[in-house]
Amino acid sequence: MKPSYVVTGAAGGIGRACVAELVRRGAHVWASVRTDADEADLERAYGEAVTVLRMDLRDAESIEACGERVAAAGPLRGLVNNAGLARPGPLEHVPLAAFREQLEVNVTGQLAVTRAMLPALRRAESARVVTLGSIGGRIAGPMVGPYHTAKFALVGLTDSLRAELAPEGIHVVLVEPGAVTTAIWPRARAAAEEVRAALSPAALERYGDQLAAAERSAARSERTGVPPRRAAEAVVRALVARRPAPRYLVGTDARVAAVLASLPFRLRYRLTAARR
Ligand SMILES: NC(=O)c1ccc[n+]([C@@H]2O[C@H](COP(=O)([O-])OP(=O)(O)OC[C@H]3O[C@@H](n4cnc5c(N)ncnc54)[C@H](OP(=O)(O)O)[C@@H]3O)[C@@H](O)[C@H]2O)c1
Repeated sequence: MKPSYVVTGAAGGIGRACVAELVRRGAHVWASVRTDADEADLERAYGEAVTVLRMDLRDAESIEACGERVAAAGPLRGLVNNAGLARPGPLEHVPLAAFREQLEVNVTGQLAVTRAMLPALRRAESARVVTLGSIGGRIAGPMVGPYHTAKFALVGLTDSLRAELAPEGIHVVLVEPGAVTTAIWPRARAAAEEVRAALSPAALERYGDQLAAAERSAARSERTGVPPRRAAEAVVRALVARRPAPRYLVGTDARVAAVLASLPFRLRYRLTAARR
């Protein structure tokens, strides 16, 4: 029997690249999407190698239903917690609803999916839970506070899960990419424009320069990011290695930032935007 994997957020970007790489290796993939068009597209592209799941990480019932469907089909070799979004803006002004949605999808949603898939994972040998963190979970910067808060939270979440599931032989891995060129960037840009448009003149005066710098930095990252295939290769390594590493960095920018994150705090903050 082909090994089976679940990949959340498989419509595009890193999730879709994970599906492609797993299918290329002969696996069966349960791929989660949110729209009819994305479901039809995956079915057209991969036929029987992929079974599409409909799941919204803000909807507990949809997550539980997918967990039951996957468990009924047999053992699950690995779960890729990939679905996520990025809500930018100054923390003083990001609408709290947007901040909550960021944590709901990128943190609570990842735990909910993991819990739903554990019965099927327990039926496989040496199962894997691979979660997409970010180098933004090691170094936080201005104007991307909600996203970085969520990615830092994932470090705690996956470290605790790792310890809790280790006795059963389930490996929990965090993949930490730097910039990857996907739709997350234009989506974040659109969200940033909304936040900016709602700022008062006084708030714009206070944060305008930082917003502009963050927008320039995001444009640079989008241009220079690695292709999604590179992140997918790290995910698949974590899924198939006999003894996976606890964390995988992806991209030169991630490696450089990881070194910076390991410096003593005063030195580290002097070298970043959090200077004072
Ligand atoms: N791109 C980067 O530079 C980068 C760097 C580090 C880490 N990451 C992480 O990698 C993961 C994938 O991001 P990506 O860059 O591939 O972005 P992407 O192309 O925007 O893909 C994100 C996926 O998540 C899905 N998603 C968003 N909200 C959802 C929800 N409420 N329920 C279910 N699915 C939802 C999206 O579905 P829809 O298409 O239906 O919205 C989409 O399939 C994220 O966790 C991201 O934080 C990305």
